Amino acid sequence: MESITLDLFLNHLRNAVVIAQADGKILFKNTVFSAFFTREKFFTSHDSIFDLFSDHPEVLEALHKVIDLRGSYYLRDVVLFKGGKNGPMDVELFPLIGSDGLFLAISMLFRDRSGLVRFEEQERRMERRHYLDALSSGLAHEIKNPLSGIKGASQMLKNELKEEEWVALADIIQKEVTRVDRLLTDLLDFSKPKILDKKRVNLNQILNDLIALQKTVAAERIHYLAEFDPSLPPVQADEAALSQVFLNLIKNARQSIEEEGKIILRSRMVTDFGVRTRDKKRQLIAVEIEDTGVGIPADNLPKIFFPFYTTKTGGTGLGLPLCQKIVEEHEGDIQVKSEVGKGTLFTVYLPV
Ligand SMILES: Nc1ncnc2c1ncn2[C@@H]1O[C@H](COP(=O)(O)OP(=O)(O)O)[C@@H](O)[C@H]1O
Ligand SMILES: [Mg+2]
Repeated sequence: MESITLDLFLNHLRNAVVIAQADGKILFKNTVFSAFFTREKFFTSHDSIFDLFSDHPEVLEALHKVIDLRGSYYLRDVVLFKGGKNGPMDVELFPLIGSDGLFLAISMLFRDRSGLVRFEEQERRMERRHYLDALSSGLAHEIKNPLSGIKGASQMLKNELKEEEWVALADIIQKEVTRVDRLLTDLLDFSKPKILDKKRVNLNQILNDLIALQKTVAAERIHYLAEFDPSLPPVQADEAALSQVFLNLIKNARQSIEEEGKIILRSRMVTDFGVRTRDKKRQLIAVEIEDTGVGIPADNLPKIFFPFYTTKTGGTGLGLPLCQKIVEEHEGDIQVKSEVGKGTLFTVYLPV
């Protein structure tokens, strides 16, 4: 067995560690430290700890304090790399004192807090979402009941009315009631808590079934193209929920095509990157729905996932929020690219 050394331990640590002399000369740095600092193009030929942190007065001050006073310091949320990949870090500084009481070196330990912060944020967002879901589904239920009363009454009214202009008014009531009813149905669908029934599913199969279904709608003016990767592995997913996602995206694509156009469905493995979690690299599958429709102006792109955002007369603006919600529940991601006059591309990423 390979002997277990301190080096081995330090190089397996997830936190960056560096040890330096009182004059600043770096004695030891572990692999995470080197990776951090080289990646951020920060660590070029510095071998003094003071040079390394020359742009960070709060770190320099702490370093001097540790050397002079031999105390320990804990700096929270230090932004070491502005605009870099790493978020704020906690930095712990402490002296190494020999058994004879002499100051030997200064140690620095860096903890990347970005993962933690993101996690806390996510928790808060989930809580808010549960609350809003309960509120909106309750409200939708409460409105649906009286609404069916109004609908029935207006129908009876219409049957009794003789004069044309009164019949027209009753028609308006019915039409508007139907619109609100559709909105509530979508809202219920959106906010209803769903328990995902995850199984191994074949995405190509789901997409194929959807195309077959779609070919019966607006068949002459829309051409469907399938470009599937036949070697796609199955994903753990709720088949019905994912079908709903793709169906919503296809429906939007279809509605964006005014006269004639193409809808391309694509499936592929993502090879250029993976979702990097702390210790495993997960592979991703991408499903793309591309159309040659009207496109989305850049100004509107940030709004399309907001509930109730719609540019359609009969729209509810709940299709994309629902897609996003379902995809997030699968630990995936949904992205969009669009150009006015050319078309739109939605990409759904799902972990394998
Ligand atoms: N493929 C697309 N092409 C053009 N615009 C789109 C496309 N998909 C979505 N949009 C825009 O995003 C808005 C919101 O979509 P969605 O949430 O599905 O609601 P709805 O379809 O009810 O309007 C649409 O009204 C439209 O303006
Ligand atoms: Mg829609």
